[in-house]
Amino acid sequence: MKLTTATITLAFVALTSAQYDVESKDFRLVLSSKDSTVNGQTLSACHTGAAIESLCLSGKPSTSKPDPIAAATFRFNTSSNVETPSDGDVPGILTYKLNATPPIPSSLEFFYDPITNYALPLLFPGQGADTQTLAFDSKNLLNKQGYVNYKTSPPTAGNTTAYYRWYACQTYFSGYQYVNLVWALGEGKPETPGCAKVDVKRVFI
Ligand SMILES: *[C@@H]1O[C@H](CO)[C@@H](O)[C@H](O)[C@H]1NC(C)=O
Ligand SMILES: *[C@@H]1O[C@H](CO)[C@@H](O)[C@H](O)[C@H]1NC(C)=O
Repeated sequence: MKLTTATITLAFVALTSAQYDVESKDFRLVLSSKDSTVNGQTLSACHTGAAIESLCLSGKPSTSKPDPIAAATFRFNTSSNVETPSDGDVPGILTYKLNATPPIPSSLEFFYDPITNYALPLLFPGQGADTQTLAFDSKNLLNKQGYVNYKTSPPTAGNTTAYYRWYACQTYFSGYQYVNLVWALGEGKPETPGCAKVDVKRVFI
């Protein structure tokens, strides 16, 4: 397809109008779980490629991180021009400033490997079309809102629901092995043995 300047300009306008430009105060992300080795753990940003980080559990040892590391500081960017759905929480993106000179504003995307049943959330520089929109509920729990119910045939749309499909799992990504926060695709548990169901809470600093 040949893209005209008008098409490109329109696409650019669409992209810029969805900018998440309103930054929240600093917070930590703290896990709660029935698994006592995971309960109370904070999330850190673990190096997993050039300017790419995964959300690893600060105190959980793994091949690529044998020792505990400091909890990361996160923010939640909402948009000054995206309307909040009347039946849902305010959508936004999870952001992090990668320590560099100058610091690199980064945001969360889901990385999908088609052969498994979970997505790996990763922090990448900037924000773009692949940045994952998320939300916090009234209890400060991180969730993903969906408005399509896939459990009916045909699927039914129109009822916004918050999903909390977070797990802590041993992961492998591009040679790096950590215990990371992951997102289960669908209702089941991630197929990797030993994953613990978790809730992810925002605690302002
Ligand atoms: C979040 O919003 C702030 C304020 O507009 C901006 O400086 C920062 O770059 C944004 N973060 C990302 C990852 O876009
Ligand atoms: C929306 O979904 C929730 C959760 O599945 C359900 O409890 C509620 O009854 C639904 N509401 C409507 C209007 O379908």
